[in-house]
Amino acid sequence: MPTLGVNIDHVATLRQARQTTEPDPVWAAAAAELGGADQITVHLREDRRHIQDRDLHLLKQTVNVRLNLECACVDEMLAIACELKPHQVCLVPEKRTEVTTEGGLDVLGNQSKVGDAIKQLTEAGIFVSLFIDPADDQINISKELAAGAVELHTGAYAEAGYSPTAKTELTKLANGSKLAKSLGLRVDAGHGLTYKNVTPIVRIREIEELNIGHSIVSRSVFVGMQQAVREMKELCLRPPGAS
Ligand code: PXP
Repeated sequence: MPTLGVNIDHVATLRQARQTTEPDPVWAAAAAELGGADQITVHLREDRRHIQDRDLHLLKQTVNVRLNLECACVDEMLAIACELKPHQVCLVPEKRTEVTTEGGLDVLGNQSKVGDAIKQLTEAGIFVSLFIDPADDQINISKELAAGAVELHTGAYAEAGYSPTAKTELTKLANGSKLAKSLGLRVDAGHGLTYKNVTPIVRIREIEELNIGHSIVSRSVFVGMQQAVREMKELCLRPPGAS
């Protein structure tokens, strides 16, 4: 069963809406841990639209589970990562105008940039994951460039909702997971996962880690962060219908 990384970016989004001090993502991380989070995930964007540098440093000092830093493959972020030394860095594509991370990283089209970043991070003792679409060529090149893990982008599956496309997207994720695992990569997944659509993803046996943000933070508004995480963790540990 996959472990659960809780992405707390959107707690910071709410804070930044007023440029104030609350709600504090550092508190959210502590509550997520109490709810059973195996990892805290944050995305430090170049435009600092949600998580701030201050958050990152406090999280590094206070998080007791794994800390996963998502960032773009650019010098500024790589320098921050190497100095901070989180347990893991997940390299993601970033466009300033996007609402959220839209597609996977094009590792194939940016081999030297991504390869250099993996080398730099690995030399700093940081485990590296690449956020990619579940495409064979992207998975193969991730292995060649010596990434430790791939996080398969579940956005297309999530967007498909209950349409027949969801099954096609699920098959792509299952096949991609098998390929990645067979190559010796750890397989993670995330983006757009919710309490309603997570179960088929949990059932893909090769997937070891999920990173889920928006849905958990949304639910936490009503039931509290600890409870929202507990409920998602339960779906990861005991997916409904599993014997
Ligand atoms: N994984 C990665 C690499 C992401 O960039 C994001 C969004 O920041 C997530 C997971 C979480 O996505 P969501 O907020 O849709 O659960």
